[in-house]
This record gives sequence, C-alpha cells and structure tokens, in this order.
Amino acid sequence: MPLQFEPIHPVFAAEANAIDLQDVHDPATLASIRQALDQYAVIVFRDQKMSNEAHIAFTQRLDGTLHTQTSLSVLSKNRFGNEALTDVGNVDEKGELMAADDRRRMGNVSNRLWHTDASFVNPPGRYSLLLGKVVPPVRADTEFVDMRAAYDTLEPALRDSLEGLDVHHSIVYSRQLLGFEFTQAEQDRLKGAVHPLVRTVQSSGRRALYLASHASRVVDWPLPEGRLLLRDLMEHATRESVIYRHIWRPDDLLIWDNRATMHRGRPFADRAHRREMHRTTTLDIPQSA
Ligand code: OGA
Ligand code: MN
Repeated sequence: MPLQFEPIHPVFAAEANAIDLQDVHDPATLASIRQALDQYAVIVFRDQKMSNEAHIAFTQRLDGTLHTQTSLSVLSKNRFGNEALTDVGNVDEKGELMAADDRRRMGNVSNRLWHTDASFVNPPGRYSLLLGKVVPPVRADTEFVDMRAAYDTLEPALRDSLEGLDVHHSIVYSRQLLGFEFTQAEQDRLKGAVHPLVRTVQSSGRRALYLASHASRVVDWPLPEGRLLLRDLMEHATRESVIYRHIWRPDDLLIWDNRATMHRGRPFADRAHRREMHRTTTLDIPQSA
C-alpha cells in the first residue's frame, strides 16, 4: 500500500498508515514524507520498534545533518553515549526514576514551556523525531501548534509590522525563567542565536512565526516592549482552540517540523511513572538552489 496520510486536526497534523520506517530507504518514499511534513508539519507514525541506531540512521536518511550539540549534552553526559540522541526520559543511568532535584530533570521540566527545538543555535533545528519507548499508563501528552497558521491569522497591520524584526533565542533565558541557575562558564558557552521573527519555510514557501520559550528579546528594541510583543504573539499562537494534543501509545514516532510548529510536554506524575522518550533533531541547513 502506498504511504498515505490521514489528517487528525482541522489545520495541521496527520497520521501515516502502517509502514516500518527502519525499512524505508528509497528516495521517493523519503521525499513523500518530507512533502507531507511541508503540508501537515506534524506526522504520527505508529508501531515503530526501533533501536537507537535505527532511529539515528532513519533520521539521517530523512534529512542529512544531525543536531549533536544538544542542550543537555553541554550540561551533562547522556546515557546513550551518543549526543545525537536526546534523552527525554525521566530515568537515570541505572534505569531508576530521577530524583526531583536531579539536574537532568531540568530538560524535561523546561519542555513544558512552548518551544521549538534548537532555536538557540545557528543553524537551528529542522525536523525532530521523538520516539515513545516507554509510555506511562497515565496521560502525558505532547501538544503542538501550527506557526504558519499563527502567522496567517494575525491582524494584517500587526503582521506587516513584524517584517524585518530579529529575535535572540537563548536556552539560558528559558531555563532561568523557571528558576534554574547557570555558572558563568555555562552562560559563556550558551550564548544563543539570532533568527528572524518571521521565517519562510524553504521547502514549502510558507511564512511562519518563529517563537519559543527561548525567545529572549527583539533585537534593537527596548527589552520590555520586545518581551511584551513576544508574549502577545505567543498567546495568539497557542490559543486553546488551535492545539493538537498527542496522546502517546508505545512505539509512536512523531516527526515535526520545528520551522513550522511549537510544542510542549504536559505535566504528569513523573515521580510515579516511567516515561522514556528518545529524540533526534536535524539542523536547518539551507538547500542551495
Ligand atoms: C522534545 C519535547 C516534549 C514531551 O522532546 O523536544 O519537547 O512531551 N518533548 O516529551
Ligand atoms: Mn522539544
């Protein structure tokens, strides 16, 4: 059966029919997945039993360059021995639930703020592939919004006023918002990156608001005005009525386009239930014409 995508939300997001992605090597199928990502921005693939190696290898077939300097890896080593695989789980290297004050929980907790992956580096993140290895028996959803639709539905005068604005994104900023502290050496290493507030997704040609919890200031604007603008835009983009909520099943693989979406994890009883998720992210390196 050819690969098909069934919409699961009025505006974006789709579920693919049965396919085992670790067997997908042919360029035509890989191209059809990229094309579907241009259309839907979030795609759900069910029943993807993949090893870490298969997860990484498929990611590279889908989209060349892996993001290997992941945010957590600058702060602590991950337990996979491969920095291309981000540990989004709540267990330590012994396989036990992390203590509440474990510094590695910082990433998980911070994922509850609306964000797009790796906006604080340059080039920023393009696709993320999040695999649900161990899914808890309670709801622990991931929520998504479509930032192309967010741009399209702005008041025209406001939309026009955003033209040409740049935003500084910093992981230190987003973590500090929640009260996490960084040494001076860490702050010196995590300088952040500047990106346009409105980006054109190269492969689809669509314009999208590019925001995240990491968005710390509008370049050349007074700090308060810039933060108020970012806050207003975040509120617009994350209206309750436009959210896609993903309810995880074991072995779900979600692929999303970070240029076109924001996402956040939702709270659950993470001191009582294991949730082990593995993520790869690719870098948005421009394709030459
Ligand atoms: C991520 C992320 C949210 C979640 O892996 O990038 O934000 O629900 N995850 O685990
Ligand atoms: Mn994320």
